[in-house]
Amino acid sequence: MSYDIGMVGLGVMGRNLLLNLADHGFAVMGLDNDLSKVKALKQEGTGKKVDATTQREVFLRELRLPRAIILLVPAGKIVDNVLSDLASHLAPGDLVVDAGNSFFKDTDRRHQEFASRGLNFFGMGVSGGEAGARHGPAMMPGGPRDAYERLKPMLDSIAAKVDGEPCVDYVGTGSAGHYVKMVHNGIEYGLMQIWAEIYDLLHRGLGLPAGRLADVFDRWQQGELESFLLGITSKIFRKIDDVTKKPLVDVILDVARQKGTGKWASLEGFGLQVPIPTIDQAVNLRDLSAMETERKRAREVLGGPLGKIAGDANQRIEQIRLAAYGAILITYAQGFALLHKASQSYKYELHLGNIAKIWRGGCIIRARMLEAFRQAFGREETLPNLLLDPGIAQDLKRWEPAFREILGEALKTGIPTPAMLSALSYFDSLRAGRLPLNLVQAQRDFFGAHTYERTDMPGTFHTQWE
Ligand code: 6PG
Repeated sequence: MSYDIGMVGLGVMGRNLLLNLADHGFAVMGLDNDLSKVKALKQEGTGKKVDATTQREVFLRELRLPRAIILLVPAGKIVDNVLSDLASHLAPGDLVVDAGNSFFKDTDRRHQEFASRGLNFFGMGVSGGEAGARHGPAMMPGGPRDAYERLKPMLDSIAAKVDGEPCVDYVGTGSAGHYVKMVHNGIEYGLMQIWAEIYDLLHRGLGLPAGRLADVFDRWQQGELESFLLGITSKIFRKIDDVTKKPLVDVILDVARQKGTGKWASLEGFGLQVPIPTIDQAVNLRDLSAMETERKRAREVLGGPLGKIAGDANQRIEQIRLAAYGAILITYAQGFALLHKASQSYKYELHLGNIAKIWRGGCIIRARMLEAFRQAFGREETLPNLLLDPGIAQDLKRWEPAFREILGEALKTGIPTPAMLSALSYFDSLRAGRLPLNLVQAQRDFFGAHTYERTDMPGTFHTQWE
């Protein structure tokens, strides 16, 4: 019984997270029924306190009591199978952390099953891919607060750091960790779709080839847009295909696949009645991209304008930069608004400033602007929407004219910018003062006697419209 922590599942993420723990001086033990993975870990862990086995009994016997075990296996049925196999051999007080992308409702169920046996269960979002797991991910753990103290030293030491602060913190009760990761992924979808639209505006609209795109993105990366996704995108533009010797991005099929976490976020938005239209559009566009037959036929039948964007190219590039900033900020605002509502609905007790702090480093949506969000939540802990913060509202004034201008050009040329348009429409609707939904109420009352409220007196009213 000499190992600090165990890992079930020695695939790419599990192995790298375990080696990261070992780098920080923890004695780690892996379990996988694939012998080649067990051997690979032992090999890579030479010289460190790392061991691995294919046998559950050996694994459990070697872990210090009460045990701490991380699970990194594909989300879904496999998690249940592994948990039910483990649970009957665990002792009260043992702690299991599911670090995969599990659906939060499954996490709630598992949490209850474990609690009824005197065991601790955590759902933990982990972001940053393979490199993140190995050298510093962002982590979003949710579960029983008192049990977190045992995990804290390990998670603090392996997490990415920003200004010396670890990109991990206790997120909240029950399934809070997986919920926050789901919203992270929804935002991730939104930002990726926005970058794709920016690419289209620059490439098709302004005629910039991949090399120029990389230069523009590198320059932007030096400023307020600095982020992980922007950084990798300029590298993507520079990559040349070995086969055709063309920029690789130009020969990649324009069909985006998905594992489902973005869709979960969208469904949650509808479920809690919190609009997150930019995330929804990102899911829509992945779906639409996969409708290959219809798209081909529509191109033939509908044709249509796909012109160039007129005007001075440098001025347009600057407008596109400002539009990117606005659209991205609004996407984060939608995600945080969903978290705000979820915290109330599910009693997660989320601290949104903490979540902004975690997301500043290690994860896929890390970006310089997260620090401003953290400060906004510092000014008002329960801010329902980032766009309501006076500092952020002031900042929005800077990009708004350019955002409108460039989207106007996109509409004229027919270059599709659904995510960016949805972000601007969200902004406009939120601050419109009076929305035209009074008409919707009148129509509902007309055909269904659904009643309406008035602006000048309390109560509900019904009118005989004809
Ligand atoms: C992360 C990523 C990670 C993964 C997504 C991809 O935070 O490290 O979000 O979890 O890359 O699952 O999701 P799709 O396959 O749906 O794009």
